Amino acid sequence: MAILPIIEAPDPRLKQISAPVTAFDDALKALVADMFETMYDAPGIGLAAIQVGVAKRVLVIDLQPDDPDAEPVPCNHDGHHHHHQPTLKEPRVFINPVLSDPSDELTVYSEGCLSVPDIYADVERPSRVRAQWQDLDGNHHDEVIEGLLATCLQHEMDHLEGILFIDHLSRLKRGMALKKLEKARRAA
Ligand code: NI
Repeated sequence: MAILPIIEAPDPRLKQISAPVTAFDDALKALVADMFETMYDAPGIGLAAIQVGVAKRVLVIDLQPDDPDAEPVPCNHDGHHHHHQPTLKEPRVFINPVLSDPSDELTVYSEGCLSVPDIYADVERPSRVRAQWQDLDGNHHDEVIEGLLATCLQHEMDHLEGILFIDHLSRLKRGMALKKLEKARRAA
């Protein structure tokens, strides 16, 4: 496994439309393993393959990455002290995802993106969507998804179409976000 460099806006590769996955092989498994390692290292809760320069319809999401700074939870069932992990990893892989039946109900979430570092902005999206996708073995899944997973999945889906969350903002707000990003990069 390897931590891959994350492409940042305004790199034109982020505007590419990703191609469907046709081979569910070892190369795909290796890509997904590297994407998880890269996402956990960043840290982030979602990553699309194009963010590491691979224009394929592959997303990884984990809403509960281990937080190294979190206090362990002490526990005392049998007179001994145990330290439980504060969070458990819940990795999810979405290959060739398709979203449909968006709910009329909308949710606003303050989104960020590993390709747009340190910029956060409110984005409104359908609260619920039907998601169809394939797993690493090519098996098909079909689920109605809601909550933070729905928001995150829609954000990651956008990456496959060359769209960033800042593209949902007004021209003025997007311009401000890009300027802030450029300034931070120059200072670094
Ligand atoms: Ni993103």
